[in-house]
Amino acid sequence: MGIREDLVRIGEEMRAQLNEATTSQQLDQIRVSVLGKKGALTALLRGMGQIPAEERPAMGQIINEKREELTALLDEKQQELKQKEKEIRLQKEALDITEPRDVPEIGAVHPNQLVLREVLDCFTGLGFDVVEGPEIELDHYNFELLNLPKNHPARDAQDTFYVDDNMVLRTHTSPVQARTMLSRKPPIRIVCPGRVFRADEIDATHSPVFHQIEGLVIDENVTMGDLKGTLDAFAKKLYGADITTRFRPSFFPFTEPSAEVDLTCFNCRGKGCRMCKGTGYIEVLGCGMVNPKVLEMCGIDSTKYSGFAFGIGLERITMLRYGIQDMRLMYEGDLRFLRQFR
Ligand code: PHE
Repeated sequence: MGIREDLVRIGEEMRAQLNEATTSQQLDQIRVSVLGKKGALTALLRGMGQIPAEERPAMGQIINEKREELTALLDEKQQELKQKEKEIRLQKEALDITEPRDVPEIGAVHPNQLVLREVLDCFTGLGFDVVEGPEIELDHYNFELLNLPKNHPARDAQDTFYVDDNMVLRTHTSPVQARTMLSRKPPIRIVCPGRVFRADEIDATHSPVFHQIEGLVIDENVTMGDLKGTLDAFAKKLYGADITTRFRPSFFPFTEPSAEVDLTCFNCRGKGCRMCKGTGYIEVLGCGMVNPKVLEMCGIDSTKYSGFAFGIGLERITMLRYGIQDMRLMYEGDLRFLRQFR
C-alpha cells in the first residue's frame, strides 16, 4: 500500500468521524488520533525512513500538505461546534424579561397606626415633641407622682396588673408626664403614644391591652382656654372643620379641674345615630389642668408655671374613624380585616 493511498484513507476516515462529532471533546479525540504523537499521520511521517531517499522530499511535502488540509478541517469543525455550543448555552440561559413577575404580597399598615400617624402629625405641627416611656413602670411614676398615693380609692378604678410591690404594667400613659417634668425644664410640649394595660374584660369595647396618646403642656400662663383651643384644633384636623369638642366636668387625681371631652360624632356629624347612641357626641379623651400638687412633686414651681394634660384613647378614635364596630378585630390579625387598610 502506498503512502498516497494511506493519506486518502486517513483523510476520508477523519472526514467521516468529523461528520459524526457533536462535541469539542470528540473533536479533540479525533485530532489526537490523526495528528497526535501516536496519530495516523504522524506514523506515516515516522515511516519515511523506509522509502528511498530521493523520494523523501516529495513525500514529505505531500504529507505536510495533507497535515495542513486536515488541520484546517479540524479548525473549521471546531469553530462550527463552538458556535453551536454557544447557541445552545444562550438558549438555555435566555431570560424572558417581558414575562410578568409574581407580584409579592404587600402588607397593610394597621388602622391604629394609620390614625396614630395622623394624630402625631397634628401635634408635631403644633410644636409638640414625641416622647416615649416604659411599659413596665414603677408604681412611683404610674401612681405616686400623679397624686394617687397607696390606698387611694381611685387606684381601684385602674384594674392594675402588678408585677411586684413596686412595679406595674402601666395603666395609662400619664407616667410619661411625670418622667418628662422631672427631666425637662418648661416650656414643655409633648405627646406620648404607647401601650397600656388594665385587667379588663375582653369585649367589643374593652381589651386588657390598648393604646393611649398622652399630651402635656407646661409653661407660664397656660390656661384651660389653651387646652380647649388645642383639642379643637386636633378634632378639626383629624375629622373635619365642622367637628367640635364638648367638655364635661370629671375627676382625675392628677388634674384640677378635670374634664372628659366628647367630639361631634363623625358618623352622623352631630345629628344622632346608632354609633353615638343618638347623642351626636362621642367620648374620646380625659384631660384637665395639671394639679399643682403634681407640678410640685415633679419639681416644677407651681406659682410660676401651669399646664394642661390630656389622654386620648387611640382605639376609640380609630374605631370612629373607620367605623370599626368591634375592638377585638384590631388585635386578632385576621388578614381579611387588615387587608381593607391597604
Ligand atoms: N390617664 C387618664 C386615663 O387613663 C387620662 C388623662 C390623661 C386624664 C391626662 C387627664 C389628663 O384615664
